[in-house]
Amino acid sequence: MTRTDIQFVDLKSQYQLLKGSIDGRIQRVLDHGQYIMGPEVRELEERLESYTGAKHCITVASGTEALLISLMALGIGPGDEVITTPFTFVATAEVIALVGATPVFVDIEADTCNIDASLVEGAISSRTKAIMPVSLYGQPPDMDEIKLIAGQNGNIPVIEDAAQSFGAQYKGKKSCNLSNIGCTSFFPSKPLGCYGDGGAILTSNDVLAQAMREIRVHGQEKRYHHTRVGVGGRMDTLQCAIVLAKLEAFDWEIEQRLAAGERYLELLKAAAASAVVAPVVRGDRNCVWGQFTVQTDDRAALLDSLKAAGIPTAVHYPVPLHRQIAYQDSCRIAGSLAVSETVAERVVSLPMHPYLDASIQAAIVGAATGASLA
Ligand SMILES: Cc1ncc(COP(=O)(O)O)c(C=O)c1O
Repeated sequence: MTRTDIQFVDLKSQYQLLKGSIDGRIQRVLDHGQYIMGPEVRELEERLESYTGAKHCITVASGTEALLISLMALGIGPGDEVITTPFTFVATAEVIALVGATPVFVDIEADTCNIDASLVEGAISSRTKAIMPVSLYGQPPDMDEIKLIAGQNGNIPVIEDAAQSFGAQYKGKKSCNLSNIGCTSFFPSKPLGCYGDGGAILTSNDVLAQAMREIRVHGQEKRYHHTRVGVGGRMDTLQCAIVLAKLEAFDWEIEQRLAAGERYLELLKAAAASAVVAPVVRGDRNCVWGQFTVQTDDRAALLDSLKAAGIPTAVHYPVPLHRQIAYQDSCRIAGSLAVSETVAERVVSLPMHPYLDASIQAAIVGAATGASLA
């Protein structure tokens, strides 16, 4: 039977729940009319500082802009290298290329799909100016191991690309506050999203925070006085207002995401004989399931079965970045990237959002595995 009621991400149900607050917040901005750098911008930054525990939050125009501004604030440019994973959304490497530096790719762990921390040290060169791990699918990688290596090799700055993991925890600390800099995205489908583009940088370093605030507004120290090259990178007041309204339900939504993830894992365990491999979460951290991504040997067959049942899917990501035309000749490959290449052929993301109910999840896993679970 084909179902038409299954959403990959359900923003309509979220709006129904939060309609009063979202509409009220938008109306307040329309009433005061400060669409650029209005009071909601700082209000949101303060809320995110206390949520993550980081000293400074700088809201910016997108997650991509958060990463770009971070590299600019660190003064990274031509001749420099930044170590990262090839198994991520393109923005992670794109910003490295945009500042004129070279992305250096190291392989991932087959089960979590996160950067393999044990391979990072071997990729360090005299040109390494930052390490940029990604908290893929909503789960932080082994940040302590990465920070230890960074510390032992001349205190290399570590930037967490937390675009998919806002709200996640690693050893009791919040994602975005796990290293020198954390960057997140408020793209609508992210765990904390706005109604357009938006993002934030979190850091406890006063000097970097000041540089980031200036770079965000064309490198100006005060109006029309430009002390460094910057970008037009502010987040709109209206988008900040929407995130503020969504924060009211965020803790509850994270609980729902964690519960939905657990249900998926149990359902997949119950269908143990199937060829669908469940994602793995390490015991010292959680995953807020920015994506719920399974693996299989026969992706075409799995995508076909889910499509036939009316279940929306996505592939995050089909081509690792060192195989992309834009990067294949301008990156440095540190060791084998065989795991990234294999995983890129195996992954399928299933619907995931806080409003997913148990019966729909049983139908999804049933369609994926052929098991009768309802
Ligand atoms: C891992 C990762 N990094 C960076 C970004 C870029 O964020 P944005 O779309 O807000 O620019 C995304 C967004 O999908 C992402 O998933």
